[in-house]
Amino acid sequence: MKYNAVIFDLDGVICHTDKYHYEAWKKIADELGIYFDETINNRLRGVSRMESFEIILERYDGVMSQEEKTEYTTKKNEVYKELLKNMSPADLSPEVKNTLDGLRGQGLKLAIGSSSKNAGFILEQLGLGGYFDAISDGNNISNSKPDPEVFLKAAQFVKEEPGSCLVVEDAKAGLEAAIAGGMDCAAIGDAVASGLATYNLNTFGDLADVVK
Ligand code: BG6
Ligand code: MG
Repeated sequence: MKYNAVIFDLDGVICHTDKYHYEAWKKIADELGIYFDETINNRLRGVSRMESFEIILERYDGVMSQEEKTEYTTKKNEVYKELLKNMSPADLSPEVKNTLDGLRGQGLKLAIGSSSKNAGFILEQLGLGGYFDAISDGNNISNSKPDPEVFLKAAQFVKEEPGSCLVVEDAKAGLEAAIAGGMDCAAIGDAVASGLATYNLNTFGDLADVVK
């Protein structure tokens, strides 16, 4: 086996929360009269909540204080959390669940490395509460991707060296974080186009071959 542990990004890898992030940010952007579309939303992948808002504010003409920024990001999160209540185990694809079970069956440790502060809640909604060996998320880091902190913490949590871990990511910032942390990485979805990954996955199930 090439690795001892696999660290998964959550949003865009294990599940798809893009539409909920979009809907919640759109509400805030509309309130502020800022143009926002799905292409801009794609730039928010892997980026922390406040950094996401800063990207949205690139199109804002006014000046906003730190207090106001906190107010709007808090509001966005309230809307987002309400939308997340729509998620259920039906949102976990059988392909993802079967692949995870297969990797675990091969003796690999499985961890989450996500910028989100809602990772625990999302995993509960998907029926994966308690499934992973460790969760490193937005609540235990000071620097978000492309900084490697979230993945290095995940490796520490499962007591493995970075070189023994494989990261799975759908965002360029996440691949950069893995590389900066000295980890191999597998890209899925949009991240494939960056050409940065050690492996490119057509589908989540390809991981079974990648780790062999
Ligand atoms: C990442 C998402 O997983 O989490 C980003 O890809 C998001 O789009 C970030 O901004 C932070 O999420 P949250 O749930 O803490 O607002
Ligand atoms: Mg992602």
